[in-house]
Amino acid sequence: MAILPIRVFPDPVLRERAKPVDQITPELLRLIDDMAETMYAAPGVGLAANQVGVLHRVFIIDIASEDEPSDLHVFINPQIVHREGELTWNEGCLSFPGVSETVERSAKVRVQALDRTGTPFELEAEGLLAVAIQHENEHLDGELMIDHLGPVRRRLVQRQLAKHRSR
Ligand code: NI
Repeated sequence: MAILPIRVFPDPVLRERAKPVDQITPELLRLIDDMAETMYAAPGVGLAANQVGVLHRVFIIDIASEDEPSDLHVFINPQIVHREGELTWNEGCLSFPGVSETVERSAKVRVQALDRTGTPFELEAEGLLAVAIQHENEHLDGELMIDHLGPVRRRLVQRQLAKHRSR
């Protein structure tokens, strides 16, 4: 396994649309293992393939807290098939180091995807898991958390990032 470099905004790959996975290959499984290692090392609760420069529709999430055993969810070709309610959440993103912003999301989602063996599954999620699924799923379409912010907040985020870079 290897820790991969995380692409940081405004890297153009973050704006690309990822393509569906048509076969679970050893290379794909290696990518997923590397993404997991990269996410845990960061540390973060979610990571989409775009964020390591690979345009496959794959993301991973682990929202277990540090004192809990790891609980890695792998989503291949995910689709959010149902959304319900609203909530706001203070979100971060490994592609926006040092930034956290309040974003409006659906309170509950139902998602269909393939797991790492290629088996379809469906998951209902709420709270942090629902937020993470929506955030990571947007990465696969080249959408980013700043797209949810007004122009003033967006400019502030860009300034925060520039400050972070110059450190
Ligand atoms: Ni993100």
